[in-house]
Amino acid sequence: MKQKLLNECIMRFPALSRNESISRSAAAGFAAQTDPKASDIAAVKIAVSEAVTNAVVHAYRNESRAEKRVVEMTMRLYEGGLLKIIIKDRGSGIADIEQAMKPEFSTAPESEERSGLGFTVMSSFMDKVKVRSAVGKGTSVILEKQLSTYEDEKQ
Ligand SMILES: Nc1ncnc2c1ncn2[C@@H]1O[C@H](COP(=O)(O)OP(=O)(O)OP(=O)(O)O)[C@@H](O)[C@H]1O
Ligand SMILES: [Mg+2]
Repeated sequence: MKQKLLNECIMRFPALSRNESISRSAAAGFAAQTDPKASDIAAVKIAVSEAVTNAVVHAYRNESRAEKRVVEMTMRLYEGGLLKIIIKDRGSGIADIEQAMKPEFSTAPESEERSGLGFTVMSSFMDKVKVRSAVGKGTSVILEKQLSTYEDEKQ
């Protein structure tokens, strides 16, 4: 059965590294509306940070037109406390998603010193991580987490 959508918030911003912390804080604020455990909010912040950083650093490597370098974050809260956050770019896309999600796989140049662990981190902090991508069209990362609340813990 489909859960009822309780709230939705959409943010669109240029793919700039300063927007990593802004989007992370926005996601924390959105998640906080159900008064979940602090560890849930921390988990959401970490996962969003990894997904937005990927859009900022990888998606637009071959795109010099500033107006094209855009990231959109959609946050949805469903009845029962299910949180879904979609981070979407219209950049290069990922040719092999399975390979990209493997630990320690990275296409970044060595000078950037990336560890290739972003997707692994997202998966360990969220219940589900889905990636939809098309080469030349862009990538959407869908993060899902059932937020727990202090009320849940009492039951
Ligand atoms: N939004 C995106 N657009 C294009 N390619 C992406 C995107 N997100 C991830 N990738 C590809 O998937 C690879 C793996 O991503 P992941 O976040 O796991 O590692 P990383 O970003 O390379 O390193 P780290 O996250 O540890 O700094 C990237 O190196 C890149 O090739
Ligand atoms: Mg990464």
